[in-house]
Amino acid sequence: MNLLVKNGHIIDPLQGIDGIGDVLIENGKIKSVKVSKHQSVIASKNKDSQNSDTLTLGHSDTRIIDAAGLYVFPGLNDMHTHLREPGFEYKEMIKTGTMAAAKGGFTSVCVMPNTNPVNDNSSVTDFIIRKAIQEGACTVYPIGAITKGQKGEELAEMGIMHAEGCVAFSDDGRPVMDSLIMRRALEYSKTFNVPIISHCEDLNLSESGVMNEGLLSVNLGLRGIPSEAEEIMVARDIALAGLTGGRLHIAHVSTQGSVRLIREAKERGINVTAETCPHYFSITEDAVKGYNTNAKVNPPLRTEKDIEAIKQGLKDGTIDVIATDHAPHHRDEKLREFDQSPSGISGLETALSLSLRLVQEGVLTISQLIEKMAVNPAKILRLNKGTLNIGSDADVVIVDLNKEFKVEVEKFVSKGKNTPFDGWVLKGMPIKTICKNKIYDIP
Ligand code: DOR
Repeated sequence: MNLLVKNGHIIDPLQGIDGIGDVLIENGKIKSVKVSKHQSVIASKNKDSQNSDTLTLGHSDTRIIDAAGLYVFPGLNDMHTHLREPGFEYKEMIKTGTMAAAKGGFTSVCVMPNTNPVNDNSSVTDFIIRKAIQEGACTVYPIGAITKGQKGEELAEMGIMHAEGCVAFSDDGRPVMDSLIMRRALEYSKTFNVPIISHCEDLNLSESGVMNEGLLSVNLGLRGIPSEAEEIMVARDIALAGLTGGRLHIAHVSTQGSVRLIREAKERGINVTAETCPHYFSITEDAVKGYNTNAKVNPPLRTEKDIEAIKQGLKDGTIDVIATDHAPHHRDEKLREFDQSPSGISGLETALSLSLRLVQEGVLTISQLIEKMAVNPAKILRLNKGTLNIGSDADVVIVDLNKEFKVEVEKFVSKGKNTPFDGWVLKGMPIKTICKNKIYDIP
């Protein structure tokens, strides 16, 4: 497929591109990028096209997309997705989840290992990679389990899984409670330079909590999870990263205290990066009122002060990444009583629009948002993604920053209809996602 995306506002933070221009794609690769208003770099292999205002078409069968008035970014990379396959296909499948990703502007997703069987060995890794090549609407990178069966007792064969294609290791959904195992995981993964992604939760302290601990949990009669259950583990893992020199990535940061700990750790030169998710800066624990299981997530939704701290952390670079933690569950499961219902929010189809609110509020520039959602995940996981560099995969998203729309869960292509954002009116959405040499038109 040859494609010319014309007259869009191209932003590629890695190349310093920010201006109106054209992107030429040939056979699934970026052939050239031309920015006619010289706010930035002109990148092109084609000398003729460098001197003209628009790119000459490589082939007469080149399809043209007029992106005037729209933005053109490198495709988004989600470093925290649950696609549920193998084993929980009733919740989500590689096919449906990657279609939801493409609809959300994502061209790559990194999938957590809490499947059945757990991705704790290279045959499961291989299965995911093969299935995703055949059926995936976008690129899929597996994340392997840190411990066998995610039981926290014995390290998985991380080296073999890494060789098979795992880009990071995590027991997400469950913390590694044993500090010695976590130490060994950081030491082991350091040898092949991939991060350990830590789900920070002290299980003894969170007990069987189901929401944020505070006045509201008392009023609702639900068992609470204090912020400290997250922060104790953030502090421990930072200490272990310091001890080992291993690469630590903190998953789904939800509290003010975690932001503070990560900021201090970065100042001290600890090898730590961090992510948060749109729900942690968009809604508070109030969303749980009425026992709304669609707002049940782990870690739980917190308070206004936490939201403010997370926004500050995003702004000052303490939090490197906005990930979705796309956690689809079946409707029947979310219809259970609050404390029996599984945690998780279906996030791929709302993440970009919710995150654009940060740009509208002046928390982030559009370029910083692309860094958090496309560039930094690729850097942390060492993926050859997140840029419109010549010769790179043509992973592109075309975004209308002004288009308003209503979130309608029935229109989700994900099997997971579990979102607390149903009915919200948001401004800014992806219009087309280009990846794997295909164009996804977003209705
Ligand atoms: O809410 C969550 N759901 N948090 C996690 O850490 C795991 C995820 C899931 O797998 O459903």
